[in-house]
Amino acid sequence: MKKILPNGLEVRDSYRLLSSVIAPRPIAFVSTVNKNGVPNAAPFCFFMGLTPSPPMIAFSCIRRGDSKKDTIRNIESGRDFVINIVDENLTQAMNMASGSYPPDMSEFDVTGLTPVPSEIVTSPRIAESPVHLECKLRTIVELGDVPTSLVIGEIVCYHVRESLLVDGIVDVKKLHAVGRLGESVYARMTDLFDMIRPA
Ligand SMILES: Cc1cc2nc3c(=O)[nH]c(=O)nc-3n(C[C@H](O)[C@H](O)[C@H](O)COP(=O)(O)O)c2cc1C
Repeated sequence: MKKILPNGLEVRDSYRLLSSVIAPRPIAFVSTVNKNGVPNAAPFCFFMGLTPSPPMIAFSCIRRGDSKKDTIRNIESGRDFVINIVDENLTQAMNMASGSYPPDMSEFDVTGLTPVPSEIVTSPRIAESPVHLECKLRTIVELGDVPTSLVIGEIVCYHVRESLLVDGIVDVKKLHAVGRLGESVYARMTDLFDMIRPA
């Protein structure tokens, strides 16, 4: 085994190593709206579920140079966001939305994706995604030497494509969610297996 001490690594190498060992990661395609009403969408794969009751999730967003990314600024001002799950049909648009666009240029215009109003929050949902999680901001924790915002949100409304719902949960075999591995490598869920847990 090769020993690697993180404090000897450049930030970029540290990020590359971390994202290559925690893989695959789910992708949160986060939609928000800015103060001028411009809808925004960007993917984040440092993303996880936190608690079942109330359901809470978290994702983290690294600063772009000295400035906060649009997603963080929009969540700070609007106090809510929507997480849209990425399936195989959404991958190209998700990737396009990850480009650095100015705050008043909407990724919905860039990608052709369709914003639809949410039930409870002001942020829009992405119509093309099979699952939308409307979230209210709980808190943002600032972490790290390279400032990184850990966003914690509470899911206040789920929207699930009807054909995917079985017994109150999403049929993961039909969802075709996409995962991110290192750098530009992604995974399709095409080789699934069952395993029963011990009592
Ligand atoms: C699949 C994927 C996952 C990403 N995950 C993250 C992440 O976890 N944290 C982060 O800060 N940026 C992440 N990015 C980069 C952001 O999507 C990118 O910086 C984007 O331009 C932010 O947009 P915004 O300024 O509209 O918020 C990811 C990009 C891709 C393609």
